Amino acid sequence: MKSIDRRNWLRSAAGLTGAFALNPLYADGLAMAPVSEAERAAKPAAGPMPVKLNANENPFGLSPRAMRAVQESLREGNRYPFGEVAAFREVLAAHEGVTPEHIHLGAGSGHLLCQSGIAFGIQGGSVVSANPTFPILMNYAEAIGTKWKKIDLNDRLEHDYESMAAAVSDDTRLVFVCNPNNPTGTLVDPSYVKSFCETISKKTTVYADEAYVDFLSPHQQMSMTELVKKDMNVIVSRTFSKVYGLAGLRLGYLVGRPDLIKKVTKVGGSMEIGRTAVVAAAEALKDQEFVQQSREKNKSARAVLTSFLDNRKIFYGKSETNFVFFPSPEQGKKVLENLQQKGYLIRIYEHKSTEWCRVSVGTEAEMRGFVAAYASLYS
Ligand SMILES: Cc1ncc(COP(=O)(O)O)c(C=O)c1O
Repeated sequence: MKSIDRRNWLRSAAGLTGAFALNPLYADGLAMAPVSEAERAAKPAAGPMPVKLNANENPFGLSPRAMRAVQESLREGNRYPFGEVAAFREVLAAHEGVTPEHIHLGAGSGHLLCQSGIAFGIQGGSVVSANPTFPILMNYAEAIGTKWKKIDLNDRLEHDYESMAAAVSDDTRLVFVCNPNNPTGTLVDPSYVKSFCETISKKTTVYADEAYVDFLSPHQQMSMTELVKKDMNVIVSRTFSKVYGLAGLRLGYLVGRPDLIKKVTKVGGSMEIGRTAVVAAAEALKDQEFVQQSREKNKSARAVLTSFLDNRKIFYGKSETNFVFFPSPEQGKKVLENLQQKGYLIRIYEHKSTEWCRVSVGTEAEMRGFVAAYASLYS
């Protein structure tokens, strides 16, 4: 189907339902889909359950309060959670200092990225992002005929904001920024990113993915929601999958000007959210002690890996998150297979024609095990 036909098809009511038939692509864009030739080629090893250092999850579990809420919610598993979703929307609005009309909840922020990719991609034109970054929104926009302008990261593995600004043209529907960035873990000074978003949002919509902001120490945490409060052309997405540890339950949300939120909700609402997810997120938000402990434990466990890389003088992206990105020591396929034999799952990415490892931060014991396994393979 030509992209213009596809857009017409998507515009029809039947087509909008059909847009969700694209959901396998969404699932593919999530952590388990291959992101490189190495991942496509590597053969999975048989054996006991490996240590999962491949999906940037919280290895410290989830808040016990959230777990209790999930157990209690099962009693009402026969009822749709419409009331709970609406109530939590209000809680999040108060938490962010905006109105409920500024908030849209989704079954994970990945789902919101997919809805936004369709909502903005349906107009054709182009979207601009760094490369590599978290690609779901652009995958969707591209699948329905939008041009994806990919701007390589700089040598520090950070977004090259100047080149991204230069890539914006009259037909640019959206600019995607991810700070800190996945897969590199790098953070660009949020005040700089804020002024970039301010300038660019005068020309087009800016989507700021803040999935990993919660890993920053509180004094570093400056959210682009400040710009939403000033009525700027900016959408922010947040997730409960990372520091809050609810990846398996699926809850994320957007904060944006009501007209932008409406544009996204035209493509899909919040119907996919389950009762367990919404009650867990509501409790998890209250348990900031769990968040702080996860943040601190992540920092010490991450230091096990970064000290190892420092000792070996291996370059890596300065990570402010729960993963670290460094050059692959040999052909990526072999690295994946060798590490899997030792019981560890990681990811391999391509950046500027070379292969890179992305290793998620596990517990401190898991990271000690990982560096020992890595050292035994690559001395
Ligand atoms: C930058 C970024 N945004 C969004 C997501 C999607 O997360 P979720 O759908 O679990 O909220 C991820 C997942 O790894 C991510 O790394």
